[in-house]
Amino acid sequence: MTIGILKEEGAENRVSLLPESVATLTKMMVTVFVEKEAGLRAFASDADYETAGAKILAKDEVIAQSDLLIKINPPSEAELLQMKERVVFLAVLNPFFNGPLVRRLAEKNITSFSLDVIPRTSRAQSMDILSSMATVAGYKAVLAAASSLPKFFPMFMTAAGTITPAKVLILGAGVAGLQALATSRKLGAVVEVFDVRAAVKEEVVGLGGKFVEVEGAVDDKSAGGYAVEQTEDYKKKQAAAVHEHAIKSDVVICTAQIPGKKAPLLLTKATVELMKPGAVIIDLAASTGGNCEVTKNDATVIYQGVKVIGNSSFPVEMPTDASKMFGKNVINFLKLMISAKGEFNLKWEDDIVKGTCVTHNKEIVHERVKASITA
Ligand code: NAI
Repeated sequence: MTIGILKEEGAENRVSLLPESVATLTKMMVTVFVEKEAGLRAFASDADYETAGAKILAKDEVIAQSDLLIKINPPSEAELLQMKERVVFLAVLNPFFNGPLVRRLAEKNITSFSLDVIPRTSRAQSMDILSSMATVAGYKAVLAAASSLPKFFPMFMTAAGTITPAKVLILGAGVAGLQALATSRKLGAVVEVFDVRAAVKEEVVGLGGKFVEVEGAVDDKSAGGYAVEQTEDYKKKQAAAVHEHAIKSDVVICTAQIPGKKAPLLLTKATVELMKPGAVIIDLAASTGGNCEVTKNDATVIYQGVKVIGNSSFPVEMPTDASKMFGKNVINFLKLMISAKGEFNLKWEDDIVKGTCVTHNKEIVHERVKASITA
């Protein structure tokens, strides 16, 4: 079979597969085409790809000659127009928020897989690009906060007196939140963490954080480890707790999300107004509306002396390791659909293959995506 790696566009620095991942594919007897200069911004040259066994081609040639096309971001209009019927396309489509694109992929009879809807099961852990990118974002969020904060993160005892450590509050203890906790602790901050899932308390404490408890959360075991919508009564108690802790913090890192929904609003304008001047808020959930009322997606706002950073593309700022992790996840996913002889072998009975497919045979086949698009 033939696999084509497309070059990303715009501000994107990552590439879906680095040469080391291409080498894994060529060992699996797959022919790999790479669009010219696809890896340049992730510091991988065309020569590196050739050494790994790939052939460098122009975009239109990659699209025309590949059975399966891989990209990180959704296809551009030009790419969509060039794609052949029945080609398989693998990317991060963000399908719940990209209804028109999903419909067009179906109409064009493209079999599309969206890596952001991979079921979060233990077997799929090695393919979970959301976890990989959230790891990068959690880490970078802390570095961004530390470099913006007008004070130190760690405690220092100096001849000029004692410097008290920064207080960090993390909202949401999923992958990004736990990585932000670990990184903040390594930099010496005192960290409090809040999540609706009491099950994460042990992990938070294990990483050196203090878990902020609010009684009465709906913790739905059938939600596969994800949070679910909370009652109005709980939301009120939660808002009071977040307010009380946020106004004493130097940094708030927002990571709370319920997959496929708008981000829960946890930090109100009124709370930000009472935060310390010079405090920093990093809102990782900015692209789905943000956890903070002041957040503007992909912008930095200074609101009454508080810096609110709504950066939605931290992984773009760390292209080498972000691409490396992304590529490893992709290879693990592709192993489910490539035979020992390097042939295409789509196994629809596999729950991961089925659960990641968005369009096939001119239909939207992912039930949750279909329901959200047609709702
Ligand atoms: P996750 O699903 O692993 O974790 C989210 C956590 O939020 C869960 O532990 C959940 O229980 C908690 N949560 C949900 N509702 C809550 C509420 N009302 N109060 C407190 N906690 C609540 O998600 P992950 O992978 O850690 O991603 C976190 C966020 O970071 C997402 O919004 C994601 O889109 C974003 N992200 C941002 C990037 C960037 O560059 N800015 C890159 C990657 C991810």
